Amino acid sequence: MQNQGESSAFLICDDLYKIFKVADIEVMALQGLDLTVKRGELVGVVGASGSGKTTLMNVLGGLTRPSAGQVIVDGKNLLKLSARELTTYRQVEVGFVWQQGSRNLIPYLSALDNIRLPMTLAGKAGGEVDQRARELMDLVDLADRYDHQPIQLSGGEQQRVAIAVALANEPKLLLADEPTGELDSATSDQVYALFRHLNSELGLTICIVSHDPLIAEQVQRLVQIRDGKLAAETVRRRPGAKTAPRKADAATGADARWDEHFEELIVLDSAGRLQIPKHYREELGFQNRVEMEVADGGILIRPARNLDETSSQAEIQIEREIRAGNGAQGGLLSRIRGKKQ
Ligand SMILES: Nc1ncnc2c1ncn2[C@@H]1O[C@H](COP(=O)(O)OP(=O)(O)OP(=O)(O)O)[C@@H](O)[C@H]1O
Ligand SMILES: [Mg+2]
Repeated sequence: MQNQGESSAFLICDDLYKIFKVADIEVMALQGLDLTVKRGELVGVVGASGSGKTTLMNVLGGLTRPSAGQVIVDGKNLLKLSARELTTYRQVEVGFVWQQGSRNLIPYLSALDNIRLPMTLAGKAGGEVDQRARELMDLVDLADRYDHQPIQLSGGEQQRVAIAVALANEPKLLLADEPTGELDSATSDQVYALFRHLNSELGLTICIVSHDPLIAEQVQRLVQIRDGKLAAETVRRRPGAKTAPRKADAATGADARWDEHFEELIVLDSAGRLQIPKHYREELGFQNRVEMEVADGGILIRPARNLDETSSQAEIQIEREIRAGNGAQGGLLSRIRGKKQ
């Protein structure tokens, strides 16, 4: 379990694993993911396609059960909730916004009716439901679109209604999976402005998934998932902090502006593991072994100089093949066993 900021932690993922099995093939969508989010934080989650972002959102929303690990949201351990408690959690405590408008809204209902629906399902009725639906349409700045059906709304307006639907039962946590994936950049900015408003005015804790690292500008903290694990975090640059030692020719235009405002921190997990970014490994010729030494108040990591003495070429090759995921694991295991005999 992570120690950092635990007292104010609203959401804790501890060593989360999710394995999907389809026709005898196992896919590890989450591989020991640790994440802590404070109450009232606005966090962006980025990562390559297939890195596990949607799986994480589904786990946080109580839609997918992790294969191992812990998920605690607002003091509740999601793995210990009964089926009925989990249904209430999904209905009332968490709100979802998905990328596709069709997944968020029912096409034949008006905007107001779409917002009323989750309240009705949660057992609410009468004037309270009507009033809240109208207030939410006003909050997302669509007071003049109450009776429009989704098809009569633009993509950005549909996503704003979707946010209102997600907020209907006053959740404490809002999860959004690529909410602006189908919008142009100006409309995306409006949707992000709405998320920021909800975060600052209502104190809502919000996690937004995106492919685009530029959402760092829209959120307080950006976490990066790689291979089902938290790999790095981007935070706003502290005044006077050193910029990352990138290649000189990369520090131009958008890159230079990025470096001026943000810095990337590498995640060190509870077992002491960290991922060295690929561009550093390639640039410095890192292989499977490194040397470490304490220097200048930190740790200096450099490629191992006597690699041949520390590990045989066969071991190095086996590790390479495992990392490449080339499907030869049965063969590799027997070779490892064979070696030990
Ligand atoms: N229901 C499922 N059954 C089997 N495999 C799945 C399932 N859901 C996800 N996966 C696999 O788990 C991995 C992570 O998928 P996930 O959808 O979480 O990625 P993602 O980061 O959201 O990707 P994208 O950016 O493309 O949406 C992928 O390899 C995917 O094929
Ligand atoms: Mg996804």
